[in-house]
Amino acid sequence: METSVILLIVLGAISGLGHGLGVLPDRLTGAVGETVTFVTSMTPTVTPFTVVTWRVEGINNTTTNIITSTSENITDSAYTNRITLFRTTGSLELRNLTPDDAGEYNVLIIPAGEAGKKGTCILEMHAKVSNVVVTPSNTDLVELSGSVRLSCSSSGSSLSFLWLNGSSEVTASDRVQLTDGNTNLTIVSVTRYDQGPFRCHVFNPVSDGTSEPVKLSISFGPENINLTLSPSQEHYDEGSRIILRCSTVSTPTAQFSWFLNGDLLPDTGPELRLVNVQMSQSGNYSCRAFNSKTLRSQTSQPAAVSVLKSQVSNVVVTPSSTDLVELSGSVRLSCSSSGSSLSFLWLNGSSEVTASDRVQLTDGNTTLTIFNVTRYDQGPFRCHVFNPVSDGTSEPVKLSISFGPENIHLKLSPSQEFYERGSNVSLTCWADSQPVAQFSWFLNGDVLPDTGPDLRLMKIQINQSGSYSCQAFNSKTLRYQTSQPAAVSVLVPVSNVAVTSNTTHLLELSGSVRLSCSSSGSSLSFLWLNGSSEVTASDRVQLTDGNATLTIFNVTRYDQGPFRCKVSNGVSDGISQLVNLVVQYGPDSVSIIGPGSVHAGDLTVLYCSAVSAPSVKFSWLFNDKPTDGHEAAYVLQSSRSSDSGTYTCTAVNAATGQNRTANHDLTVTGLPACDCSGAAGRATIITAGCCLVIAALSVTIVYCLLRGRRVKYAAHNQEKISVKEKYSDIYKITETSQNDLNSPPVMKF
Ligand SMILES: *[C@@H]1O[C@H](CO)[C@@H](O)[C@H](O)[C@H]1NC(C)=O
Ligand SMILES: *[C@@H]1O[C@H](CO)[C@@H](O)[C@H](O)[C@H]1NC(C)=O
Ligand SMILES: *[C@@H]1O[C@H](CO)[C@@H](O)[C@H](O)[C@H]1NC(C)=O
Ligand SMILES: *[C@@H]1O[C@H](CO)[C@@H](O)[C@H](O)[C@H]1NC(C)=O
Ligand SMILES: *[C@@H]1O[C@H](CO)[C@@H](O)[C@H](O)[C@H]1NC(C)=O
Ligand SMILES: *[C@@H]1O[C@H](CO)[C@@H](O)[C@H](O)[C@H]1NC(C)=O
Ligand SMILES: *[C@@H]1O[C@H](CO)[C@@H](O)[C@H](O)[C@H]1NC(C)=O
Ligand SMILES: *[C@@H]1O[C@H](CO)[C@@H](O)[C@H](O)[C@H]1NC(C)=O
Ligand SMILES: *[C@@H]1O[C@H](CO)[C@@H](O)[C@H](O)[C@H]1NC(C)=O
Ligand SMILES: *[C@@H]1O[C@H](CO)[C@@H](O)[C@H](O)[C@H]1NC(C)=O
Ligand SMILES: *[C@@H]1O[C@H](CO)[C@@H](O)[C@H](O)[C@H]1NC(C)=O
Ligand SMILES: *[C@@H]1O[C@H](CO)[C@@H](O)[C@H](O)[C@H]1NC(C)=O
Repeated sequence: METSVILLIVLGAISGLGHGLGVLPDRLTGAVGETVTFVTSMTPTVTPFTVVTWRVEGINNTTTNIITSTSENITDSAYTNRITLFRTTGSLELRNLTPDDAGEYNVLIIPAGEAGKKGTCILEMHAKVSNVVVTPSNTDLVELSGSVRLSCSSSGSSLSFLWLNGSSEVTASDRVQLTDGNTNLTIVSVTRYDQGPFRCHVFNPVSDGTSEPVKLSISFGPENINLTLSPSQEHYDEGSRIILRCSTVSTPTAQFSWFLNGDLLPDTGPELRLVNVQMSQSGNYSCRAFNSKTLRSQTSQPAAVSVLKSQVSNVVVTPSSTDLVELSGSVRLSCSSSGSSLSFLWLNGSSEVTASDRVQLTDGNTTLTIFNVTRYDQGPFRCHVFNPVSDGTSEPVKLSISFGPENIHLKLSPSQEFYERGSNVSLTCWADSQPVAQFSWFLNGDVLPDTGPDLRLMKIQINQSGSYSCQAFNSKTLRYQTSQPAAVSVLVPVSNVAVTSNTTHLLELSGSVRLSCSSSGSSLSFLWLNGSSEVTASDRVQLTDGNATLTIFNVTRYDQGPFRCKVSNGVSDGISQLVNLVVQYGPDSVSIIGPGSVHAGDLTVLYCSAVSAPSVKFSWLFNDKPTDGHEAAYVLQSSRSSDSGTYTCTAVNAATGQNRTANHDLTVTGLPACDCSGAAGRATIITAGCCLVIAALSVTIVYCLLRGRRVKYAAHNQEKISVKEKYSDIYKITETSQNDLNSPPVMKF
């Protein structure tokens, strides 16, 4: 009772005191079943505290005095064995805490001889976290098609919840909801990455706890199916071992099935092993993956497996025939080979054979057919066979294709129109022919014994002249071809060319002459030359006997030649001697040249001229009386007046029997004489002597103009020669020194 009185006093005494801040912490937290110690900030003193008292205001506003320690200790019965008071500091330990221990704890400490100190501390009580359990609504999910809710439950008070995904905290998002104070984690439209493990972490101020991890099973796939071949190659030899592997992304693991060319195989599992593979197992393989959870499947792209029989070998070409005739035959070449998946290609020489009108490639190119073969189709043909792993080529096959003969031609060597008797001639015959043609020879259509492409004619004779031809024969095609004929003319050379005339002396206009040309030799041609000009036929001129005979009718003085006969044949020629004809004519153009008037005492010369062959004989009449003048010149040494009168000159050609006359009147007058020693050009000075010269020369000039031929002067007397010599430098008279023809026309004075 005393104690309580004192306590009341004390409480009263201290009620005016300030709040005991600093003596106790403001708050403490206690866990159910655990111990809490309210530690004061007091330091122990030598003299123990007079009073230490603890009181609690509980949750129902009930106040309980826990302990009052003075000289004795008064402990609430509810706290006996649960508390320990530390008398030196006033601190209080409270054990076996219950939720009802929560409340405001007050302490009053009165040190000896000092004012009391008061402290207050709020004790919060918490139940410890335990039994943290996560319950998923579902653990078997299909990706994107399901939601899952994870609920976290836990014992304890003032709980906070936090979710872990692996070691990361889960945060809310579109797909992820955290509800009911984070106790529920809802994942909408789960993905494969949401499998967890998820844990729930629960905590309050006094403890925490984490759930067991929860893993979600999220099915997905199959996806990204991939079929691989091992080894991976385009083609496999028969007997090889091939492993096909199918991989896919799938949860749970996919179930595999296999297909060959779309047909289901009995095999299952991710690998398909083909051991000792056969060609029949070639084809397109594919695998299908099936997910029993998602109920989805995916099929791979097909993988081609090409199994080939071993190497290409025994490539053989078989021709239907090798002996052919151009354009009339067809040939079929067949190629065979061991191996598989073979491709065939034909080669002609080094070029690839392609199909055309005449060329067919059939049976997958194993057969080459050539229709209407030509000479250019002889090959060699080879068959090239290949498959992707090897190739091979046949032996070459040559075709023998007969053709011709064609383009036959015959050549002469030497090549000329005529051959001299005794010379050598070669005839050569060619023809395009396969096989080589056989030749035979013909002369004027008659077969010769000779064969072979060459015919040699040695020391050829006249009777070997003719038309040669050769004939080529092809024993395969059984065809013939005959050449154009080639003429061989064998000639005897020209020799002994001679001309004979049936007469050599003729009368102009009434005579005819026949000139005959003869010669040795063959195939002769005749040609007549008059001087250097060729004689051509005309009214009066006939060329007969193949031009061997020249007949001239009614010859003229100009037909005297010289004639020659020129003979030729293809190999030689020759020419005759010159033949001159003597043509007799005249006298023509008989005239007297002389002065009409002279002076007495002058030397007077009268000249009578005539054109004639042979030469005429002259006779002179004076006043119709014969004189003794029988020359061309009639000379009066010294004229007298009795010499005046008419002079008549008669020219007689004894050969033609013709005669002609000419008259001339002369008058002789008085004196004097003239001087002729001056220049001859002074024609005005006319004397008998001068006139003689001038007259003579004028005759010469006239004569030259008329005949255009050379004139031969025949000197008949001394006077004339002296005159001529005297004036030759002026008149340039040229003498013909040589008579090259038998009987040229002669001009006589
Ligand atoms: C405790 O007392 C306070 C103030 O005096 C009052 O507000 C409260 O309601 C009371 N609590 C109970 C449980 O009676
Ligand atoms: C407080 O009051 C409630 C009912 O009002 C009661 O259940 C509880 O036991 C009381 N607590 C204490 C410590 O008295
Ligand atoms: C009172 O309690 C304290 C602490 O338990 C102890 O040290 C002290 O001796 C007690 N006093 C008496 C009189 O029992
Ligand atoms: C939280 O989870 C519990 C237990 O699964 C459930 O009963 C409750 O409805 C959930 N709350 C919400 C908001 O989903
Ligand atoms: C869980 O973590 C993974 C990555 O670790 C993430 O991709 C996924 O979205 C997370 N899931 C949730 C529900 O947080
Ligand atoms: C399939 O697998 C192979 C080997 O594993 C790889 O090289 C290739 O890229 C894959 N193909 C696809 C489409 O994934
Ligand atoms: C072969 O030649 C004959 C006769 O000329 C002709 O009728 C035929 O069409 C030819 N064949 C071919 C494939 O050219
Ligand atoms: C035959 O060969 C030709 C080329 O020469 C080629 O274009 C064609 O495809 C081949 N035919 C076959 C079936 O191999
Ligand atoms: C010469 O031949 C010609 C022509 O045949 C003839 O007219 C003439 O009389 C012949 N002369 C002689 C002398 O035979
Ligand atoms: C030759 O002359 C005579 C007589 O004048 C004439 O009849 C004849 O036709 C002439 N002959 C030729 C070939 O001119
Ligand atoms: C004769 O000569 C002439 C030319 O002079 C010629 O045209 C003709 O062919 C020749 N006749 C013969 C048979 O040679
Ligand atoms: C000249 O010819 C005629 C006849 O034509 C003849 O009578 C005369 O005798 C001849 N004169 C001389 C000189 O021969």
